[in-house]
Amino acid sequence: MLSALFIMSCKSDKKEEKDTEPAATEETVETKTENTATTNENADAVTLEIEGDDQMKFNKSEFKVKAGQKVTLVLKHVGEMDKSVMGHNWVLLKPGTDIPAFAEKAIAAKDNDYIPADTDAIVVHTKLLGGGEETSITFDAPAAGTYDFICSFPGHYSMMNGKFIVE
Ligand code: CU
Repeated sequence: MLSALFIMSCKSDKKEEKDTEPAATEETVETKTENTATTNENADAVTLEIEGDDQMKFNKSEFKVKAGQKVTLVLKHVGEMDKSVMGHNWVLLKPGTDIPAFAEKAIAAKDNDYIPADTDAIVVHTKLLGGGEETSITFDAPAAGTYDFICSFPGHYSMMNGKFIVE
């Protein structure tokens, strides 16, 4: 009984140790990742949510993250309209991007869901959604700076845009 208790406390001590120094063997590192997925792993990760609707609006105009932070961006189309008439995506653009010029290019990329192939202005983007759909992307936040995000569906960027601030 005593020895069992001892082993148990020993184990939990080890666990705490692992939280602070993630060394150990492959096996224990794997275990740690699973066990602490909702605590440790997420301390440096963030989930952001944004909604687009049938009124051609995003419900958020600004996000703040830290450089290198693992970001999961969840995009929800909370409207009902089809993506052919009210499609929404979330496109993160590099600082200094000429947005009207980019939007022009996007219009020409209809067959690629309005994501132009011949550009280096995109940091990341989601797929295009219709009403009731949801998607997410996970990426490492880029270098510090102020980035613009838009929906690249034709005519949407002037209404559907915001700032993605990396500190
Ligand atoms: Cu849109």
